[in-house]
Amino acid sequence: MIRTITETLAAADAARAEGRTVGLVPTMGALHEGHVSLIRRARAERDLVIVSVFVNPTQFTDPDDLASYPRDEERDLAIARAEGVDVVFAPSVEEMYPAAAPEVTVDPGPLGERLEGASRPGHFRGVATVVAKLFHAAGPCAAYFGEKDAQQLAVVRRLVRDLSFRVEIVACPTVREADGLAMSSRNARLTAEQREAAGCLFLALTEAAELARGGERDAGRLVAAMAREIGATPAVRLDYAAVVDEETFEQVRTIERPARALVAAWFGQVRLIDNLALPIA
Ligand code: PAJ
Repeated sequence: MIRTITETLAAADAARAEGRTVGLVPTMGALHEGHVSLIRRARAERDLVIVSVFVNPTQFTDPDDLASYPRDEERDLAIARAEGVDVVFAPSVEEMYPAAAPEVTVDPGPLGERLEGASRPGHFRGVATVVAKLFHAAGPCAAYFGEKDAQQLAVVRRLVRDLSFRVEIVACPTVREADGLAMSSRNARLTAEQREAAGCLFLALTEAAELARGGERDAGRLVAAMAREIGATPAVRLDYAAVVDEETFEQVRTIERPARALVAAWFGQVRLIDNLALPIA
């Protein structure tokens, strides 16, 4: 395990000097099957695999969420070892932000203000800033991100394009539980009742996808169906249901280009998000 940016970059530089390729999997730890799928893809495609484990304080908008975020470094290390990861980069907050909160940050632009950005103001600035730092720590590489956080993936793609990072972004499909619930570190905080209710997210998304597959082009009808499904589930509070353009995350009225259905909802104190690409019939 490596704690510093300098040593991580040295390991990556040494690999590149020998003509080996580098894969980076950024995480906040509490590794689950979703993270493992990214690690396996990186392991299969790249020579040196770096997994970063850093609970980034600047992307949390709720101090309780940050305080209750699950942490288990021993377990994460054991999983990384078992998956053949070469370098686990687990910096301290001081290593990443030596001058307390950073003054120079990455502005994620309008994409960062929509949906998740509106519900969690400042979240994507924190994500874009830490991801830029992680890209600098790894150097030129392929970086693996999950579709589970589709808006984050779009922000990171934009970051690479607009600021010319020498990083290739690889998108990986969402790994789900048997009932369709997307794996998330936050699922562990659900009560048994909330866990059962959480299945409504995937149900709502598949309903929207079915409507789209059947030829429905009116995004409003899909949004209404998703809101109805989640609204009918007890002990759930809908944050948003939306149909957006795959690239800009602007809400669409009519589905004409690749679009994605998104949902966010509260289960007690736990907020979960999920999404599904919509088929164009
Ligand atoms: P974290 O939530 O730990 O997720 C790390 C990566 O795993 C992200 O790319 C996320 O999309 C992916 N992931 C999470 N659950 C998944 C699932 N069920 N299926 C597939 N992939 C999944 O996302 C972050 O950390 C942070 O914002 C980070 C990018 C590390 C910046 O701090």
